[in-house]
Amino acid sequence: MTEQTLGAILDTYGHEPRCLVEVLQDVQHAEGYISEDAITTVCEDLGVPLMEAYRVARFYKAFSLAPRGKHVVTVCDGTACHVRGTPRLFDDVCGQLGIVPGETTDDGLFTLESVNCLGACALGPVVVIDGVYHDRVTPGKLRTLVDGVRNAGEEVGADA
Ligand code: FES
Repeated sequence: MTEQTLGAILDTYGHEPRCLVEVLQDVQHAEGYISEDAITTVCEDLGVPLMEAYRVARFYKAFSLAPRGKHVVTVCDGTACHVRGTPRLFDDVCGQLGIVPGETTDDGLFTLESVNCLGACALGPVVVIDGVYHDRVTPGKLRTLVDGVRNAGEEVGADA
């Protein structure tokens, strides 16, 4: 993120310490994640302790402190989804992507995440891929969905 972009975000919120969350949201939106440089600059500018900013950034699921993949696969591992088969989903998708929850594939294509509840417990296991909800997901269905996302990207790339 350029100095100018970050400066513009800080200007938008009047350099107010109480706007820490909003500033971090805009940084996340602009950069796709919150880099160490960005969070340090934000803290210096707002006069907020670095530890406080990291506490906020780690608390909210919407924030990421590491670059995310082009596609985000979020698997619910809340109680309802867990008893309906989430462990089998993780076994399969981790093998398919070669990563564990919280990691991003080396090619930067996929980030795999785990959450505690997506608010659709009766429809579990629930998986969200790039913001689209999928219910009653089986390992086979998830594999197909991930392959579909990967293949769609390759087709777009082939046309370009
Ligand atoms: S536990 Fe998965 S949606 Fe609630």
